[in-house]
Amino acid sequence: MLICQISDLHIKTPGKLSYRVVDTSGLLKRCVDHIRALKQQPDIVIVTGDLTDFGRPDEYAHLRELLAPLARPVYLIPGNHDHRENMVAAFPDHRYLTQNMPFIQYAIEDLPVRILAIDTVIPEESGGELCEARLGWLARKLAEAPARPTIIIMHHPPFKTFIGHMDDIGLANAEGLKAIVERHPQVERVLCGHLHRPIQVRWAGTLASTAPSPAHQVALDLSADAPSEFVMEPPGYQLHQWHPDTGLVSHTAFIGKFDGPYPFYDGEGLID
Ligand SMILES: [Fe+2]
Ligand SMILES: [Fe+2]
Repeated sequence: MLICQISDLHIKTPGKLSYRVVDTSGLLKRCVDHIRALKQQPDIVIVTGDLTDFGRPDEYAHLRELLAPLARPVYLIPGNHDHRENMVAAFPDHRYLTQNMPFIQYAIEDLPVRILAIDTVIPEESGGELCEARLGWLARKLAEAPARPTIIIMHHPPFKTFIGHMDDIGLANAEGLKAIVERHPQVERVLCGHLHRPIQVRWAGTLASTAPSPAHQVALDLSADAPSEFVMEPPGYQLHQWHPDTGLVSHTAFIGKFDGPYPFYDGEGLID
């Protein structure tokens, strides 16, 4: 099974640019075209938060149009730029969204790998948190199926990235999550967004990672006083291939027009 992870789309109303610079809608369109042109088509697409820029109804309406050409199951979670009620209202056919209101936490049970989505949003704030109610739900869900390989998806990563201004708006109570995940070796991976960069770390006995954005990337500056800035580095997304023999094998796809492909070999062997 192939899982496509896109993250941090920051969609605005048609014609508006994010931070007056980034054409996030045009860039998502390019991303969707790129996914549709993949040689192997994903079975599902997960979108790990910051779906819109300001959580407004017209932004969600625009997002809906932009995602439609994917024509496959799409699973959404909110980020700090989202608004739960407006998000749910825009996607009434995405019934999984309301499994555990007021939070957007849900389990996808009908796939070869189980997916548990958790909601890290604090309304009107940039940082995230996991309160006792949200952690309790996750602990119960994990305890329910200890033998089923499971992927957790969430917006704010539970680990330090060393990009100071992003760590300042990181996840509160990551320790609470760590204590739960450590007890559950069936957790194959924790897939996150928020960072607008691909980052991996060994965490709580599993692997945790973030995804690049199909739009703007957070500037690579691993200092505590890094300025809060973004750069237009090559946009991208993650492709996670699941197989019971291997677990989850993750690739980063870059969106753009690049030279090649060129062959390594010709009739004589390795090209000299
Ligand atoms: Fe974001
Ligand atoms: Fe975010």
